[in-house]
Amino acid sequence: MAATAKAPRIKALVAGNWKMNGLKASKKELAGLARRLAKGGRPACDVLVCPPATLVSLLKDEARGTRIAIGAQDCHAAASGAHTGDISAEMLKDAGAGFVIVGHSERRADHGETDAQVRAKAEAAWRAGLVAIVCIGETEAQRDAGETLKVIRSQLSGSLPKAATAKTTVIAYEPVWAIGTGRTPTSADVAKVHAAIRAALVKRYGAEGAAMRILYGGSVKPSNAAELMAVPNVNGALVGGASLKAEDFYGIISAYIKG
Ligand code: 13P
Repeated sequence: MAATAKAPRIKALVAGNWKMNGLKASKKELAGLARRLAKGGRPACDVLVCPPATLVSLLKDEARGTRIAIGAQDCHAAASGAHTGDISAEMLKDAGAGFVIVGHSERRADHGETDAQVRAKAEAAWRAGLVAIVCIGETEAQRDAGETLKVIRSQLSGSLPKAATAKTTVIAYEPVWAIGTGRTPTSADVAKVHAAIRAALVKRYGAEGAAMRILYGGSVKPSNAAELMAVPNVNGALVGGASLKAEDFYGIISAYIKG
């Protein structure tokens, strides 16, 4: 039954991941983005900015009355407790976040996060009422070994909880070798991986899997956004470096503005 799910219309999401960048003064970038969005045509996508946790509350205030949602970049799996330095999904929600990125490759690499931990974080996000953006992606060595699809499928099945739905969960495919390098896969390669992700989601979640957003991330820029966003099964972007400047991020969002 799952395999026959009809392809639904999916509203795209363009999300900025500021990573460990931004001070209070960076709220001017958010204000600049809001101004550009108010002036330009209405994009056929949702817009999200995920600043460091220190700025969630400030940027949420700045974003009030705009089309910009605010998210965070990681959460602890527990709601509270003796975990010095960690931040729970409930705290992020309380600060104004609506989304949280989990399982970013930088967290998997820098903090040794496993699929099981990522899955627990996604469940924590839902518990707090946040949408989880679950990241997956192969390294260059895995790609060279021809293991991309195998890695992707295994990360998907390990990192996604059983109860994932299209409303609570977004997938972000970020080839590790494309992050911050200026290199991107060809459109044909992106199409192949996103089709494999879609097939795996539909197989496991049926209609929910058919409706889940699958973002592409890794060196998305204003100059390549239109081409990448036009690839089948690409339902938006997760943007690092180019999300830090309002002008660049707006240039990417423009891929979803007609005319
Ligand atoms: P860049 O857009 O800087 O390549 O980063 C992508 C990314 O890791 C977003 O999460």
